Amino acid sequence: MSEPLVLVERRGEGVRGTALMRLNRPKQLNALNSELMDVLGRALLAADADDGIGCIVITGNERAFAAGADIAAMAKKTYAEALAEPFITRNWETIRQVRKPVIGAVAGFALGGGCELAMMCDFIIAADTAKFGQPEIKLAILPGAGGTQRLPRAVGKSKAMDLVLTARMMDAAEAERAGLVSRVVAADKLLDEALAAAEIINGLSGPAVALAKACVNKSFEGGLADGVDYERRIFHSLFATADQKEGMAAFLEKRAPNFTAR
Ligand code: CAA
Repeated sequence: MSEPLVLVERRGEGVRGTALMRLNRPKQLNALNSELMDVLGRALLAADADDGIGCIVITGNERAFAAGADIAAMAKKTYAEALAEPFITRNWETIRQVRKPVIGAVAGFALGGGCELAMMCDFIIAADTAKFGQPEIKLAILPGAGGTQRLPRAVGKSKAMDLVLTARMMDAAEAERAGLVSRVVAADKLLDEALAAAEIINGLSGPAVALAKACVNKSFEGGLADGVDYERRIFHSLFATADQKEGMAAFLEKRAPNFTAR
């Protein structure tokens, strides 16, 4: 039996508890593939439909929340394959259907698709070890799961451009200053803090919480769907370039890429 890709457990003693979901591909730094996103999506929808759950916490492990979409799984994809699968589209936005609050509890790397998944959560509590970034440009692609749309909304255009164009990582303190995360806590307190926040929400009115969430999202997401759709088409188109093949092959072969602008 292989390990489950997401470990799900119920936490809390009250009538309504918390669904704790731990991403579980530790050897790959929780790189996100279709299978994992399917499992996560199913778990999210099940928790949303469960009257005994008030809040959801998504976390990774000490080293990584998630280091991005799985590069090995997409390195050889052609444009046609990316479109046909459909790749990144089918199961990456399931989380947006969830009416209950979803808290991202982030320690270690939250990069690429990992940063994007964290940003799809309603708020992020970060360990002081957290590192956020959108390093896709080093692979000659760009963020493909909403990063170019959600990051500027969260941290402003200048910092978003800096992160997306230089691929640099941002530590937890900078992420808090920029407004990407709601609070930073000691790494060994991360889960306690996230579960305590969830427990507060579990004790509140479910409908009010769901509607408050919907309203905040309304303010945040105006025009987002168009933006994400646009971003995804551009993202897919980069799989027609030689540089994408070279960038991903170089990563997997642990060597510097030789980009040719083709
Ligand atoms: N996909 C697949 N495998 C990954 C991965 C990813 N995104 N990130 C890390 N891994 C794997 C590594 O290949 C390595 O596997 P092996 O042990 O079999 O060699 C293992 O996880 C551990 O990684 P490292 O040895 O590289 O660990 P490190 O501590 O030296 O570096 C890191 C950590 C800086 C996070 C580095 O792993 C890294 O740069 N990862 C890639 C980050 C990235 O580019 N993310 C964006 C992906 S594209 C994307 O997400 C598209 C999108 O928007 C949807």
